[in-house]
Amino acid sequence: SAAGPLKDITTRYVGSAVAAQHLNSEADYRSVLTREFDSVTPENEMKWAVVEPNRGQFNWSGADAIVNYAQQNGKSVRGHTLVWHSQYPGWLNNLGGGELRSVVQQHINTEMGRYRGRIRAWDVVNEMFNEDGSRRQSIFQQRLGDSYVADAFRWARAADPSAKLYINDYNTEGINAKSNALYNLVRTLKQQGVPIDGVGIQTHLSTQYGFPTSLRQNIERLAALGVDIAITEADVRIPLPADSGKLNTQANYYKQIWDACHAVSRCVEFTTWGFTDRHSWVPGTFPGEGAACLYDTNLRPKPAYTRINP
Ligand code: G3I
Repeated sequence: SAAGPLKDITTRYVGSAVAAQHLNSEADYRSVLTREFDSVTPENEMKWAVVEPNRGQFNWSGADAIVNYAQQNGKSVRGHTLVWHSQYPGWLNNLGGGELRSVVQQHINTEMGRYRGRIRAWDVVNEMFNEDGSRRQSIFQQRLGDSYVADAFRWARAADPSAKLYINDYNTEGINAKSNALYNLVRTLKQQGVPIDGVGIQTHLSTQYGFPTSLRQNIERLAALGVDIAITEADVRIPLPADSGKLNTQANYYKQIWDACHAVSRCVEFTTWGFTDRHSWVPGTFPGEGAACLYDTNLRPKPAYTRINP
């Protein structure tokens, strides 16, 4: 009874994280994705540890599969992610600052270059802040210093001038110490002429922590800096087992995320981190929590889906 697929009820990109493996092996997964969404984000396939597990030895099979799917089905792609403290290959640990710097530039060139013109937006720098707003002491921060962020954006612009370049983080939905730091950094980067086009707000929420009611205000202040905003990894986990009350609360959360994005014209994308409870990172990371997606394990739309798309 929905008005039409999600992608047709909004002018925003509506995306989901996807896994190449499921796309290839599950016809129902592929068909719901193709019907409802017009953007895809590789959940793991473009991460550095996956694409270059050993120095100079590349594996593009998963990333290629997703980009090819997107091209054949008229989907937009969000590239995820180039510079991140997690899921980078172990061989980076053996490099000193000078060498690491050129290796990061090369990585950005190689990966963005391979898909040049076929990726709408890239998460260039991911999760660089601690909760208190200080910089995470990642290998990049420790060995390259503060300038690695601006450098990464400059290298990214050169590697694919057609891609929108984003900084992306979690727990930056509401106004708090971490989102203040993100805001201040983006302002500074813009003032310095660093080529940054957008801010990704991951939006991994839990019904146990309350809704970040300043989400809309936060999106508005970022937009005022002259950047786009994307909801990049939305999901709303609930304590298991799910029941109708919890699913209703979850539906309210999803609708509030959707509405906050639609309240600001520069919020250009609403992407969820997976679309079915059949495949979600949540139960593996938060034991006792799950059922975080818009569709259940049998790909039936949940109350959250219906709340967004009645
Ligand atoms: O593919 C291997 C498999 O060969 C091996 O047997 C198995 C054993 O652990 O691991 C498999 O790799 C796992 C991979 O997901 C693919 O399933 C990794 O262990 C596991 O760590 C990895 O988790 C991913 C996680 O990022 C890594 O940090 C999740 O799928 C992915 O959803 C999650 O996504 C992140 C975003 O990139 C950034 N924001 C937060 C978000 C949620 O954590």
